[in-house]
Amino acid sequence: MKSYEKLLLENKAWAGIKTASDPSYFPRMARDQKPEFLWIGCSDSRVPANEITNTEPGEMFVHRNIANLVVHTDLNLLSVLQYAVEVLEVKHIIVCGHYGCGGVRAAMTQNHLGLINKWLRNIKDVYRANRSEMEAIKDENKKVDRLCELNVIEQVNHLAETSIIQRAWKNHKRPMLHGWIYGLNDGIIKEITVVEPNAPIDPLYTFKFDNE
Ligand code: CO
Repeated sequence: MKSYEKLLLENKAWAGIKTASDPSYFPRMARDQKPEFLWIGCSDSRVPANEITNTEPGEMFVHRNIANLVVHTDLNLLSVLQYAVEVLEVKHIIVCGHYGCGGVRAAMTQNHLGLINKWLRNIKDVYRANRSEMEAIKDENKKVDRLCELNVIEQVNHLAETSIIQRAWKNHKRPMLHGWIYGLNDGIIKEITVVEPNAPIDPLYTFKFDNE
């Protein structure tokens, strides 16, 4: 059997088990989604959003990219964000990084990786913004792990800097923003930052919505 054929077989088995234990499961799923959470995580295959939070289909809206970045020109992420905030009305947005992230590690090198250089450039900027702290850490793995944490904090800040979030804060007092980090070694998620609705942010990035 080809490796991908196993996936299709497993899918049939899974659907069968779900239906057997709850015949209304798929009809209910097919009707609507109303997830309370938007998850922004790394594409790394070892950090599956639903599995590590023990959530079911329908509970979490998910966006994943290399190193869980929130880039203010990324139409993909911004579309997911706008839909999650304005249509699904999520209460919480979680940026979840992970220790030992390959994207973060690569950003600390001078390796030329083609197109991905441009993506990883965003992480180099996080390093530069925290240069003195980063350069005080001598152990290479500890350095990577600290940059993984600082990267999550920076991406949460990027969310708060979007007009999508600021408008939702002003009008609906949601969503709350969370920065989490997952340990590949122990499977535990650690909370590293939380930003409440209407938390003060750098005035340079604050929008006024007087004309709305
Ligand atoms: Co990663």
